[in-house]
Amino acid sequence: MSTLSISQTGAALGATVHGLQPSQVSDAQLAEIKQAYADAEVLFFTDLQMEPQEHIDFAQRFAQININRFFTPVEGFAEIAEVRKEPEQQNNIGGGWHTDHSYDQVPAMGSMAYARALPNSGGDTLFASMTQAFAALSPGLQETLLGLNAVHSSRHAFGAAAPVPKDLRGRFGNADQALQDAVHPMVVKHPLSGKPALYVNPGFTLHIEGWTALESAPLLQFLYQHAAKPEFTYRYKWQPNSMAFWDNRATWHYALNDYPGQHRLLHRITLEGVPLAAAAS
Ligand code: SIN
Repeated sequence: MSTLSISQTGAALGATVHGLQPSQVSDAQLAEIKQAYADAEVLFFTDLQMEPQEHIDFAQRFAQININRFFTPVEGFAEIAEVRKEPEQQNNIGGGWHTDHSYDQVPAMGSMAYARALPNSGGDTLFASMTQAFAALSPGLQETLLGLNAVHSSRHAFGAAAPVPKDLRGRFGNADQALQDAVHPMVVKHPLSGKPALYVNPGFTLHIEGWTALESAPLLQFLYQHAAKPEFTYRYKWQPNSMAFWDNRATWHYALNDYPGQHRLLHRITLEGVPLAAAAS
């Protein structure tokens, strides 16, 4: 019998875990949360009252932490990246559809972002389901995509020549480590659910393997527009002390930048994943 209260959003993805205190989660509850994560693709936790070390401890019960080499860490906690926007900034971090770390050879399993400071209004995050987006494609296009890989990179986003807006430059570092490109199947077998998931990334995909960027653009643009359709998405309205835990292999996210002149701060931990395999045709 479940000892947790978990409610579905009713949208294509997402479920909310109510009234949980991370430091008191039993092994049985952890197993329930993991199953809910595999099913819902993104979990939302309400009213956590969590200090940075508790955040780290909770995250480590799911997987080893992947320290993001580009983001500024929270002072004293290298494992936690700051997703910060100050009132004078025009640009925000994550203000476009993407999934985290697809430029790594072994992309991160998920990211756990905890709300430390929120604007009075705005600052919601959109999530999109890549399993639902794939399932809605025609059998012909599905079959084509199942045979393709795509090349992903961090160079154009975090490298020395990346066009990072001036007001975001102080938020990132280690441009010299933006060297790693990675090739992944365009449709992966999701490591937890086993479902086929579209794995292309408007933020980090350069081109389809063996195709030029010009040749790749029409198909990638079609997929980007298709996967961002409202029917595959959910809009999350953050509450004080809430946390979103999304699966980077099954979802995209988009941090809305609609709160000019206000402060917003999330503490984000990224968790190690496993090598991705192609979904079978
Ligand atoms: C991100 O991690 O891409 C940002 C998420 C957010 O700010 O909502």
